[in-house]
Amino acid sequence: MISKPTILIIIGISGDLSKRKLLPAIGQIAESGKIPEQFKIIGVTRQSDINLNDLLQSTTNKEYLRSSTEMFQMDLNNVEDYKKLGSRIEATEKDFGSSTQCLFYLSVPPTTSKSIIGLLGESGLASKEGVKLLLEKPFGVDLESAKSLVDHIDRCFKKEQVYRIDHYLAKETAQNIIVFRGGNSLFKRTWNKDFIEKIEVVVSEKLGIEGRVNFYEQTGALRDLIQSHLLQLLALTLMDIPDEEHLELVPQERYESLRQLKVKENESFRGQYDGYKKEVDNPQSMTETFASINLESNDPKWQGVEINLKTGKALHDKYTEIRILYRKGHDHESNELLLRLQPDEGISFSVWAKRPGYEHQVSRHALNFSFKDHYSALPEAYEQLLFNAINGDHSLFSSNEEVLETWRIIDSLQKAWAQNKDDLIIYEKGSIIEEVINK
Ligand code: BG6
Repeated sequence: MISKPTILIIIGISGDLSKRKLLPAIGQIAESGKIPEQFKIIGVTRQSDINLNDLLQSTTNKEYLRSSTEMFQMDLNNVEDYKKLGSRIEATEKDFGSSTQCLFYLSVPPTTSKSIIGLLGESGLASKEGVKLLLEKPFGVDLESAKSLVDHIDRCFKKEQVYRIDHYLAKETAQNIIVFRGGNSLFKRTWNKDFIEKIEVVVSEKLGIEGRVNFYEQTGALRDLIQSHLLQLLALTLMDIPDEEHLELVPQERYESLRQLKVKENESFRGQYDGYKKEVDNPQSMTETFASINLESNDPKWQGVEINLKTGKALHDKYTEIRILYRKGHDHESNELLLRLQPDEGISFSVWAKRPGYEHQVSRHALNFSFKDHYSALPEAYEQLLFNAINGDHSLFSSNEEVLETWRIIDSLQKAWAQNKDDLIIYEKGSIIEEVINK
């Protein structure tokens, strides 16, 4: 592990993400002794009355965070203020030494990140030695805007400086997909169209849009979750797995698998929960809070396999899982593998067994592995992401190519849905997924 002196500059430290995820994650990394010895957070905010203690309410290790964090108030539209921020950074660098790295974390609404990136470039901060840029999704709103954002970032930062976050990739259980596939020869050998009939990736959410009215109205389930998290989970399921010594090739392999995908528009549909229009105060809203899309892959290994991604808000349960349905030979021979990413993280595999008794009857049973039976708490995705970015490991971040490819995949469907005005299924809040599908 590298223990390079590090300054983490959180732009937007007073926001929700920073309070709920980033500061608690740093607290945890420090607690486990994995934070560089010389480490400082500079919390950038526009507001003058932010009290650090208020931001630390959900963190452990408050003492460490208090002593390592300085606040910096600035106008995010003023290039002179970026230069002042530069001087503040230099003062810390003097204490830390010449090999100090600076991580700029943009924890700001997507509409402001483009101008901040430009000003980091204009002020000279982007080209300083040892600077990295960490960006949250969404990266654009469609293929065109994503391309223009990629060009804009490329003008200010070098590729290797940029870390694009898709926090699903860093979930412990998403990382386990690679280990499970690569480390179990039974599954490794049967991971292809000859044995697998169908792959489903499902993200069911109990919460609605939680007050994010403007963001969600402009986004919808297809862009919010399918374009990013679900396609990335699918890529982890379909990609070729590199050798353990070459995990840096994972983003390239994910990209290769995404390149082969095509949406089946006429087998895809969208829904909206009852009450959404009122919540966002737009009686005409066609924004989907539920989406189910079918895809096909041109990869010879996966041709003909049914692929389905679905997600929805305000549903009955919260869970994320990948279901792999194996082909059946005789009637009751089909097996199902379930990779449960959250909650109750684990793996279950259905097998057929003889029912005790004189007659020949069989029943399906599950072989279960649950993380919680063997391990205590699993690390949060943001701990892993910050740890990897500090240590220069890109394998859990999405590349430009992947981001553009995921927008390419949904592009035609996005356009079709933008035209269509009467294809929205209205479902009750608290529905289970099957009820929405069968509407
Ligand atoms: C975010 C989406 O990226 O992921 C949210 O913008 C969604 O709408 C969230 O609720 C889900 O993340 P998790 O980790 O709670 O499954």
